[in-house]
Amino acid sequence: MRFFTILCFTVLFCNTSFALDWGKKGHRTTGAIAEQYLTKKAKKAINKLLDGQSLALVSTFADDIKSDKLYRSYGPWHYVNVPFDKTYDSHPKSEKGDLIQGIDTCIKVLKSKESSKENKAFYLKLLVHFIGDLHQPLHTGLADDKGGNDFQVQWFNEGTNLHSVWDTKMIESYGMSYTELTNEMPELSKAQYKAIIAGTHRDWLEDSRNLVKELYKQNKKGDKLSYRYMYDHFDTLKKQLQSGGIRLATLLNDVLG
Ligand code: ADE
Ligand code: ZN
Ligand code: ZN
Repeated sequence: MRFFTILCFTVLFCNTSFALDWGKKGHRTTGAIAEQYLTKKAKKAINKLLDGQSLALVSTFADDIKSDKLYRSYGPWHYVNVPFDKTYDSHPKSEKGDLIQGIDTCIKVLKSKESSKENKAFYLKLLVHFIGDLHQPLHTGLADDKGGNDFQVQWFNEGTNLHSVWDTKMIESYGMSYTELTNEMPELSKAQYKAIIAGTHRDWLEDSRNLVKELYKQNKKGDKLSYRYMYDHFDTLKKQLQSGGIRLATLLNDVLG
């Protein structure tokens, strides 16, 4: 019985830790960076809604509920697939929802005077996660290969796919905790900061789509990726985490500040 319990936990743990978006580390980094850019007023409102939990802590909630049947309808909110020759607005919207519709709903609930505290807390946790996902370029990839999930590659001689390389493999290979990653983000000039916060989540989607277009061009299925890929892409990954955190704070300052 004991062995069976351990086996169940191992299977559960493996399933969740390998298949998740940005992985826990990426999401927590985005949440921790956002904390640094919140206004006093937004911080107070968030503390009240989350009963003191940090944005880093709640950033993985949307993944934690993924396997629960009750929350199945939120599954398609983690990504958005639009053909590269279309823009988000010129392409028919997915009826099941997508990352942009998901973020729209979270903002609407948070802004509404009609929403209960429980509802606001729930959608705030989702929003923290989805702004993270929006900055993982493969979450804005093509439908054909499920945002790179079916784009098989090798990572340091281990079989995986391009989506997982960006969700977790590069971050794990870097070998830092989320707090270390948060602390080593580059200093930004005023102009760089302004450029990051410009626009809305629809513009931020276009940034991610421009990135993912390049990523698809650079590799073919079966490629063996390792040090060179880290060297070429880890700064971009860091920039995505940093921009995600700063933009999340900007959005929360606007909605709750
Ligand atoms: N995760 C699961 N399905 C996906 C898709 N179609 N695009 C991006 N990420 C995904
Ligand atoms: Zn993912
Ligand atoms: Zn997600």
